[in-house]
Amino acid sequence: MHIGVIGAGQLGATLAEWCVESGHDVAITSRHPEQLGGLVERLGEHGRAVPIGEAAAFADAVLFAPAWSAAREAIDLAGPALNGKVVIDATNPPSAVPGGRSGLETLMDWAPEAHWVKAFNTLPTSVLTRRRGHDPLLAEFVCTDLVDARLTASKLIRDLGFAPVFAGRADTAKYVEPGGPLQMTEVNVQDATDVLAGVLGDYI
Ligand SMILES: NC(=O)c1ccc[n+]([C@@H]2O[C@H](COP(=O)([O-])OP(=O)(O)OC[C@H]3O[C@@H](n4cnc5c(N)ncnc54)[C@H](OP(=O)(O)O)[C@@H]3O)[C@@H](O)[C@H]2O)c1
Repeated sequence: MHIGVIGAGQLGATLAEWCVESGHDVAITSRHPEQLGGLVERLGEHGRAVPIGEAAAFADAVLFAPAWSAAREAIDLAGPALNGKVVIDATNPPSAVPGGRSGLETLMDWAPEAHWVKAFNTLPTSVLTRRRGHDPLLAEFVCTDLVDARLTASKLIRDLGFAPVFAGRADTAKYVEPGGPLQMTEVNVQDATDVLAGVLGDYI
């Protein structure tokens, strides 16, 4: 796939490198794509740094990993290029999002034409790096209202060496975000069903 990575920080850069290793082509961006020289060198011929709109236009799927405080700006800079695209939201909002809505739902309000899905947000890159590709596979929780977004995120999660586990619709994303019981929770794939049942009951 063509993967656009918005946000070239710790998480975005790490996921970008793993996408290239897994055979994907990556366009990564920050507000300063010209400063991403070292990362672009590491990504090699299957990676490049471009302005935000270009990364979104290039992408079959977007990995959305700016700081939460920059999320609105990043969406505005990406503009209509996000419309109709699967956008995988790895951000972590502050635990008290106004109105009790999940961060994912807030992003859906800001870019309603994008196909949003939550993943890659619950654990730090140190844990992801330690667990990546090792048995038992690490469960990577996926929340979305959309089937195409779920399928695309699940494929990418598998490609990167983790096990996708559906954890409910966009309104359950608050359980995987800060303040939720699945944030910072390292779960082996074979335990994921029990853990979800314990946390979410029959909510999903
Ligand atoms: N680090 C982790 O292990 C981890 C794990 C799970 C989830 N997360 C979540 O992932 C998000 C990023 O975390 P991080 O640790 O990678 O943060 P970080 O290292 O602080 O990087 C944030 C990135 O966002 C970029 N950015 C800021 N404004 C932007 C904009 N308008 N458009 C595009 N990019 C923009 C910044 O680049 P410029 O300043 O160059 O624009 C920077 O590269 C956060 O929401 C965090 O909670 C992080």
